[in-house]
Amino acid sequence: MSDLQQLSVQALQWSGQALKVLDQRVLPATITYDEYQDAAGVAEAISSMRVRGAPAIGIAAAYGVVLSAMRHYPADNWRDSVEQDIERLAASRPTAVNLFWALEKMRALLANPSAEPITTLTALAEQIHAEDLAANQAMGERGADILGDARAVLTHCNAGALATGGYGTALGVIRSAYRRGRLQQVYAGETRPWLQGARLTVWELAQDGIPATLIADSAAAWLMKSGKIDWIVVGADRITANGDVANKIGTYSLAVLAKRHGVKMMVAAPSSTFDFSLESGDSIEIEQRSAQELLPACYLQADSLVSAWNPVFDVTPAELISAIVTERGAVIDPGKHGVRSLQI
Ligand code: MRU
Repeated sequence: MSDLQQLSVQALQWSGQALKVLDQRVLPATITYDEYQDAAGVAEAISSMRVRGAPAIGIAAAYGVVLSAMRHYPADNWRDSVEQDIERLAASRPTAVNLFWALEKMRALLANPSAEPITTLTALAEQIHAEDLAANQAMGERGADILGDARAVLTHCNAGALATGGYGTALGVIRSAYRRGRLQQVYAGETRPWLQGARLTVWELAQDGIPATLIADSAAAWLMKSGKIDWIVVGADRITANGDVANKIGTYSLAVLAKRHGVKMMVAAPSSTFDFSLESGDSIEIEQRSAQELLPACYLQADSLVSAWNPVFDVTPAELISAIVTERGAVIDPGKHGVRSLQI
């Protein structure tokens, strides 16, 4: 285990009997883990964004299924009860496909357990968790190869250890590139309205001793115009068969700006983020969150004339992306080549 990895924060801790979730709503001011012993609690932790980030919510949901089986097995119809919990977990957030990918894996095992269910389900959830960390380390190295001599990058949202099983996707690439000694400067957009960049990314990087520079989202165009960055590096919540990428709201704006300014755009994501059942990003459900996350309190009363439109993801067309990097390989210019070569 590397020094950097040892230092990285952990979004999820599995004790064997319960799931501990780092409450990301209160970071960086407060570091507190909430402990869950049932699937309903895990579903609430996902929908309330105590845990967030596509791979992390998939991993949390897998442990949620284990907790459900622990609660219901071996009562009559225990599988039906677990299935209800799977549906509850699936309803927690709509856009990140990793959630549904992990639940499908758990469901398939549940339908045909080869041995005692608690043991096999636990082993699968732990495997999903461990493989995500390994995937991030592999894509970190691959992404750093592609960044080459780049000296400065901008990232958006938080695609780090906090959003994954560890090491991070976009922040995994940044960790690996920084460790190689070439990357000098990491800019992070604050990522309104939930401030994943301002509250999570700069904090996570600082925890690992990587200096980070926060910018207002609205400073991104001027940052690019000033020639200060070579690449934008982001994660993804869902990548469709044509290479379109759903990610945190604002990613599309950055991609358009990057094209205008000759900055390259990298998306780093594990295979669990791909949805080959969808031809293009037009079919991705974009989560709309509450106006409360956006509006000042004075506009929240029932008779207020001020409302809010709060989509929390957008879709970047493949043609605006320079490289998609996974643990299995990378595609340069996905708009030209598609991403079918990354399909299992
Ligand atoms: O709403 P969030 O914080 O769950 O959104 C997270 C993102 O958009 C991340 O960029 C994405 O999940 C990639 S995380 C490795």
